[in-house]
Amino acid sequence: MKTVLITGCSSGYGLETARHFLAEGWTVVATMRRPREDVLPSSDRLRVLALDVTKPESIAAAIQAAGNIDVLVNNAGIGVVGAFEATPMSTIREVFETNTFGVMAMVQAVVPQFRSRRSGVIVNVTSSVTLAPMPLVAVYTASKVAIEGFTASLAFELEAFDVRVKLVEPGYAPTTRFAENGGARMSGLIPAAYEPFARPIFAAFAKPSAVTTEADVAKAVLRAATDTGSQLRFPAGPDAVALAQMKCAP
Ligand SMILES: NC(=O)c1ccc[n+]([C@@H]2O[C@H](COP(=O)([O-])OP(=O)(O)OC[C@H]3O[C@@H](n4cnc5c(N)ncnc54)[C@H](OP(=O)(O)O)[C@@H]3O)[C@@H](O)[C@H]2O)c1
Repeated sequence: MKTVLITGCSSGYGLETARHFLAEGWTVVATMRRPREDVLPSSDRLRVLALDVTKPESIAAAIQAAGNIDVLVNNAGIGVVGAFEATPMSTIREVFETNTFGVMAMVQAVVPQFRSRRSGVIVNVTSSVTLAPMPLVAVYTASKVAIEGFTASLAFELEAFDVRVKLVEPGYAPTTRFAENGGARMSGLIPAAYEPFARPIFAAFAKPSAVTTEADVAKAVLRAATDTGSQLRFPAGPDAVALAQMKCAP
């Protein structure tokens, strides 16, 4: 039976991904900053562990407690929307600490066991903002595009050890806790000079033509985790799939 470790399982895409892998018969190590068993169905194939991807000691303790795993899903992430010039460098660093360096630190923590066993899969969850640029998300986009480039390079490097590395690119889901979790970080990031520009953009965000569900992402993560071919990118959700097709169109 295969074991998956997923980061950021307290809500949203990570929570649904943990539920989906459990339902498909996997052993699941669901990690959260503040562990809660009650958000997932009880199962002898489920373990909930504490993990903050920005803290080296937390990563080391979780990896040690998890033991051997077959798949790592780097899902934990935070967002920020606002004018770049108004975004404090401390906020930019905070976003990169989780979305970029947190992913890299998790990868370094599992690669030794994957390399020595010559098996394992890493799935990095980025975003459809990497498929087509959008205004007012320059920092978030940079943090995720960095992981796209990182993953594409790493996939070649670890192929030599039969370790697969994949990307899942979800579209926009208004139903996760993403916007709420980023609320405080975003306050005051639209200065008066940007208001006329930002207003129609926020109005468009509020009325998306297509959205992604948690189930779309969970299914794409499972497809990526079990894909034995060379496909690197797995867009998830109808909006992300449409953007990926536009990117590929001549
Ligand atoms: N929702 C969207 O529209 C959307 C679109 C594209 C991509 N994504 C990406 O999808 C992923 C999941 O987002 P979501 O929409 O499901 O949002 P969410 O409901 O806010 O879930 C994010 C998860 O990440 C966790 N997290 C945040 N910082 C962490 C840290 N330092 N260490 C460990 N866990 C941490 C959160 O835990 P706490 O409960 O402890 O805060 C939460 O469990 C993220 O990588 C996000 O960038 C989201």
